[in-house]
Amino acid sequence: MLDFRGKTVLVTGGGAGIGRAIAESFGSAGARVVVAEIDPPRAREVREALAKAGVDALVCETDVRSRAAVDAMIAQVAARFDGLDVLVNNVGDFLRIVKPFEQCSDEEIEAIYGVNLKSILLVTRAAIPLLRRRAPGSSIISLSSIEAFRGIPMVTVYSAMKHAITGFTRSLALELAPAGIRVNAIAPETTETPQVPVTAMIAPEHRDHTRRWIPLGRFGTPQDAAGSALFLASDLAAWITGTTINLDGGALAAGGWYRDPKGLWTNLPVVTGNGFNF
Ligand SMILES: NC(=O)c1ccc[n+]([C@@H]2O[C@H](COP(=O)([O-])OP(=O)(O)OC[C@H]3O[C@@H](n4cnc5c(N)ncnc54)[C@H](O)[C@@H]3O)[C@@H](O)[C@H]2O)c1
Repeated sequence: MLDFRGKTVLVTGGGAGIGRAIAESFGSAGARVVVAEIDPPRAREVREALAKAGVDALVCETDVRSRAAVDAMIAQVAARFDGLDVLVNNVGDFLRIVKPFEQCSDEEIEAIYGVNLKSILLVTRAAIPLLRRRAPGSSIISLSSIEAFRGIPMVTVYSAMKHAITGFTRSLALELAPAGIRVNAIAPETTETPQVPVTAMIAPEHRDHTRRWIPLGRFGTPQDAAGSALFLASDLAAWITGTTINLDGGALAAGGWYRDPKGLWTNLPVVTGNGFNF
């Protein structure tokens, strides 16, 4: 059921991180792969990697925030593959804008909207006619975030955009269900990528805490997201639409719970001991 031979998959931002893992995984599963990537060196690298792996691939240097660029890229997909089975809206970025909301400039708000939501609206709208050609059975998957389901102080605009993806996913799922096109999302917790180089971000003296912080004991890998994407695109998920997979090692379930240095669960502010007064 995870055999994608004969299928065409478009991954935005497929030149690095989660998008690249998704593109390569679909390629390994036999899919024809289209990558829309803004960064020329990354586009070149993934083009070479897919060619080396023997994948029938089209890598476009495309800025998915631009209507004209998106339309040109979709025209290329139509000309070469005559349809689309899977669209993965992976581009998204908090742009390292971490500040109180009231200090966010118009330009910063526009920038966060452009890369996180406008890009998805433009690419999805342009791709739907190609997805209809392969329906029923085609599907759309958007990369959301755990920050769509909890707050993230000082990153409020990004969080709002990711929350919007939940509504987009649910509403479009209803709209496209009669055509047999499924629409879902994946919401990762912190995942090691060029955008979030988490290993480097955590001070060496705090790294030992990681295994206790996330219930499953580690941060995410791009491969974790690729697994969810292949599942959602496959017939294994044939009755799943309008929903989001929480790809978070149990973090949302844990809420404020984590394990103390002895490995015992606590939701109290402890550095040593178990935090309870007994
Ligand atoms: N890494 C995490 O911890 C994490 C957590 C939650 C959600 N996410 C989401 O997962 C997705 C992928 O994140 P990542 O960490 O792999 O990102 P990344 O920045 O490491 O990689 C994104 C890729 O997209 C490309 N890109 C950026 N803007 C583009 C544009 N306008 N047009 C075309 N390509 C563009 C980049 O060049 C890069 O190759 C994003 O939507 C992100 O919000 C990531």
